[in-house]
Amino acid sequence: MKRDFISVLDAERDFVAVVELAANLKNRHRAGELYEPLKNKNLAMLFEKASTRTRVSFEVAMSQLGGHALYLNPQDLQLGRGETIADTARVLSRYVDAIVYRAYRHEDVVELAKWTTVPVINGLDDVEHPCQALADLFTIQEHKGELKGLKLAYVGDGNNVSHSLMLASAIVGMDVVVACPDKFRPRADIVKQAKEVASRTGSKVSVLPDPVDAVKGADVVYTDVWVSMGMEKEKAERERIFQPYQVNQQLVNKAKEDAVVMHCLPAHRGLEITDEVLDGTKSVVWDQAENRLHAQKALLVKLLGAV
Ligand code: CP
Ligand code: NVA
Repeated sequence: MKRDFISVLDAERDFVAVVELAANLKNRHRAGELYEPLKNKNLAMLFEKASTRTRVSFEVAMSQLGGHALYLNPQDLQLGRGETIADTARVLSRYVDAIVYRAYRHEDVVELAKWTTVPVINGLDDVEHPCQALADLFTIQEHKGELKGLKLAYVGDGNNVSHSLMLASAIVGMDVVVACPDKFRPRADIVKQAKEVASRTGSKVSVLPDPVDAVKGADVVYTDVWVSMGMEKEKAERERIFQPYQVNQQLVNKAKEDAVVMHCLPAHRGLEITDEVLDGTKSVVWDQAENRLHAQKALLVKLLGAV
């Protein structure tokens, strides 16, 4: 496994193994087994943006693995008073064994990783949300029993979550289609990377404008917020343009009969997804949220060399 997990592609070769380990660790946790391979290991969690799932699941993950996590708000660090990322990185490397960084700018995550001597995990930035994609594919594997050959339809904003999902789907050989307005397509370079991977694994990656076309034959219907953190000034325009991309019962009915519905959460009920769908029988969002914990435990164990 590469030292850092900044893009889903950093785990390209190990993706399936991490998903398998997540399932294994989940079972062992459910069985009440104590498994503490990260005793005396410390994880710094540097969060520039709000978080419920990522923050809590990483902290609990470290605790369950026998280690410790520290939540760091940049505003309370000297980073907030002008100490550079490079200097912060070198100092933190002397104290902790890994760093999770949730940042506004992807370049800042890359900069931190450049200067640390310990693994850096991207806890979401403006380009990717790789930990989410890891937990999502684990959740699909649990519910469908397989990944290769399935079809995932992502409906909404071509954002960080869509980018990581495209790359992850391509890695495991799952078809992925993104339905979005022209102005909010996923980044062309990421689509290209996903297509390159897909050509090796035999899957298809496509981006199209019509949500109904996208969900036809889909095993998974996935959506995320229309206004990501940092995009708040575009709220009015986005809420208008994305209206036809709402994941409601009518749209879900066009997918496969046994399709599951996913959302990385937090959800804006009544906007990108209706209550009826989020709380409906096809929704697996609470399993998906739980699986952040198990997937990140697997990631930490791999990155910190405990297996
Ligand atoms: N899905 C996700 O990353 O949620 P948080 O913003 O609550 O961490
Ligand atoms: N795309 C969303 C995901 C939140 C978990 C954001 O970046 O705000």
